[in-house]
Amino acid sequence: MTISREGIDPPLWLLAEVTYRCPLHCVFCYNPVDYAKQHKELTTDEWLSVLNQGREMGAAQLGLSGGEPLLRDDLEVIVEEGRKLGYYINLITSGIGLSETRIKDLKEAGVDHIQLSFQDSTREMNDFLSSTKTFDLKNKVARLIKKYEYPMVLNCVLHKLNIDHIEEILSMAESMGAEYVELANTQFYSWASLNKKQLMPTKTQLEKAEFVTQKFRDRLGNKMKIYFVMPDYYSTRPKKCMNGWGNVFVTVQADGTVLPCHVASMLPNIEFENIKSTSLESIWYDSSSFNLFRGDSWMKEPCKTCPEKEKDLGGCRCQAYMLAGDPTLADPVCDKSPHHHIVKQVVKDAENFLPEEKPIIFRTDSESRRLITEKNAGSLDIEESRLFEDNVVASSDKSRVGSI
Ligand code: FES
Repeated sequence: MTISREGIDPPLWLLAEVTYRCPLHCVFCYNPVDYAKQHKELTTDEWLSVLNQGREMGAAQLGLSGGEPLLRDDLEVIVEEGRKLGYYINLITSGIGLSETRIKDLKEAGVDHIQLSFQDSTREMNDFLSSTKTFDLKNKVARLIKKYEYPMVLNCVLHKLNIDHIEEILSMAESMGAEYVELANTQFYSWASLNKKQLMPTKTQLEKAEFVTQKFRDRLGNKMKIYFVMPDYYSTRPKKCMNGWGNVFVTVQADGTVLPCHVASMLPNIEFENIKSTSLESIWYDSSSFNLFRGDSWMKEPCKTCPEKEKDLGGCRCQAYMLAGDPTLADPVCDKSPHHHIVKQVVKDAENFLPEEKPIIFRTDSESRRLITEKNAGSLDIEESRLFEDNVVASSDKSRVGSI
């Protein structure tokens, strides 16, 4: 059954961030910088209920991500329910924990598609960026994915530190027999925002990467489809973020908070409801948080009278907040925004940045706790301090992040 109410279509994509625990410590992780807040992960039954509610409303695609979703030992149970309900199930993983037994069980349970992330084509950079020794393990998992006859979907987040290896990254993907490669240039949210100076590529790097990508496309055609996503900062028009707020995507965080995108919890003065106390249907259709940026009545100038407003819906609400301090403003990526100079300055600074100017921050539980403490003490800069939920409290050092 597909429920729809006048003017609002049901969600198509349900992203279940089943845990924020993760064996990797990636410097560009999109999980909230305050993920080590006090929280409890949803139980198995609560996740099964989320899946049922989503499907009842009409959602067709289920993304299982984290953190590392394989750290949930009930993942097979969740997948089985998803299959029973008829979802197309996409597992988004670092591969750590995907043993042969596990992949076999997950295949039987009903995973349709596995997206495996790599950090680089070299062991050194892969292991540095994730702060783990996982390069060989990921290669092993890539072979298992092939063995179990999944299409090989490799994802590599590009940035200043690995973008010059693009030829090697694509050659590696080719030798692994990848059918799809997503070269997603870093979007500067969450941990990537903290590390923006270290990760922002230069224009020359990007142009070279695009040129190399095109050479591979010309040679391999459909044998290996390559998606190259440009970083927002090099555009003059913003993206239609999430295809519109509360339009297609719904994210359920590890603790059951329901969001229109995976980082919206940082937006100030918005109460995002939790699946433990409110139904998904009511949150999607009736909550003030999901209705806040639907349509265009919330828009201010220059978006309000812009002839292109239907095309990009004013861009990303989270980026408007991170860079301009107000989620109701135009996304500063747009060159009509009065804040576009902030984006231009970051791009300009990328040309001259020296790595020793600022240490890179790895995504770890202890860093997340430290950052929460510093934010509450008022010692972060203004842009960094916008990355946190209102009144967030760090979990104590001893408790495991997301204890159930
Ligand atoms: Fe939240 Fe764009 S990431 S609206």
